[in-house]
Amino acid sequence: MVNLVLITGGAGFIGSHLAERLIAEGHSVIALDNLSTGSRTNVQHLLNHPRFELIVGDISNEAQLAALIKQADVVFHLAAAVGVKLIVDKPLTSMTTNIRGTEMVLEQASKWNKRILLASTSEVYGKNTKTPFSEDDDLVFGNTKKTRWSYACSKAIDEFLAIAHHRESGLPVTIARYFNTVGARQSDQYGMVLPTFVNQAIKGEPITVHGDGSQRRTFTHILDTVDATYRLAMDESAAGDVFNIGGSIEISMMELAKLVRSKVNSDSQIKTIPYKEAFNNKGFEDMQRRVPDCNKIDQQIGYSPRHSLDDIIDNVIDYYQPVSQTAAMA
Ligand SMILES: NC(=O)c1ccc[n+]([C@@H]2O[C@H](COP(=O)([O-])OP(=O)(O)OC[C@H]3O[C@@H](n4cnc5c(N)ncnc54)[C@H](O)[C@@H]3O)[C@@H](O)[C@H]2O)c1
Repeated sequence: MVNLVLITGGAGFIGSHLAERLIAEGHSVIALDNLSTGSRTNVQHLLNHPRFELIVGDISNEAQLAALIKQADVVFHLAAAVGVKLIVDKPLTSMTTNIRGTEMVLEQASKWNKRILLASTSEVYGKNTKTPFSEDDDLVFGNTKKTRWSYACSKAIDEFLAIAHHRESGLPVTIARYFNTVGARQSDQYGMVLPTFVNQAIKGEPITVHGDGSQRRTFTHILDTVDATYRLAMDESAAGDVFNIGGSIEISMMELAKLVRSKVNSDSQIKTIPYKEAFNNKGFEDMQRRVPDCNKIDQQIGYSPRHSLDDIIDNVIDYYQPVSQTAAMA
């Protein structure tokens, strides 16, 4: 029986929604978060809950991390430097968090033999042009001067470390590769496309599409991601394995910009921006198409995302619209 769950990055976007689900399932939750991209506001509604505790701290504090992992029954390791813009702007701290931080989390989980779910990313497929991506496909990265690949590489190293712990000490770790997950509480500050488009449309600012907008992606509603994450972590037979968690409906970034604009009823222009300009010449290249094959997770836990693309976009609009309207009136 799982009683106490530790979520690193528990005051972040996915972490805060996961905390809600875990509490609803009857577990007690400790969220460890340094509030770098997460916030107290994300978990404000949980702070007085008797089975929730927010600990503001960094995963690099080994003594604190060890004590928390020792007392937890299950660990969700979500803390990371996230978002392409953040990684391109602060590559060193991002890599330190994602590599050294995860190494420490895995070491402690291994020491106490704790069930752990590791959050990875579709970015690890890199420049592989195959579609859709299945878990056994090759990871293809660009050269080391293109900073954006440091995120993918750091997460790939995390996966290697996790699998090595599983093989050498039997650590019950499961790896979830998230494809764009979106919903309420996702920040627009670190280059996440949907909250950025929604905010630009609400404010009547130009909607900035990188490149020519023909890049195609899928999106997953936060509640579908949380449901899959929770059930995967609780399934002991998933240990030692890697699973895609993503959506099925593909859309180009130009189509997405137009859809957001019409849903917000905005008269924003749609402006294409060359990658060089968008990322200050810091070495950026993008993938044309990124679509998950979710058969493996479907066979493991019965995965079928319940929310449509309309639901997903409406959820983000509902989250941002009242705030922006209030700000506009102030
Ligand atoms: N949202 C997505 O679409 C997506 C896609 C792929 C992978 N992921 C992965 O999912 C996880 C959660 O991402 P998210 O979208 O919720 O982003 P997020 O930025 O909201 O969450 C990350 C959380 O980790 C915290 N954090 C960062 N460094 C820390 C440190 N050193 N110590 C303690 N806390 C720290 C941040 O404050 C934040 O609350 C990440 O591992 C990310 O790589 C997310």
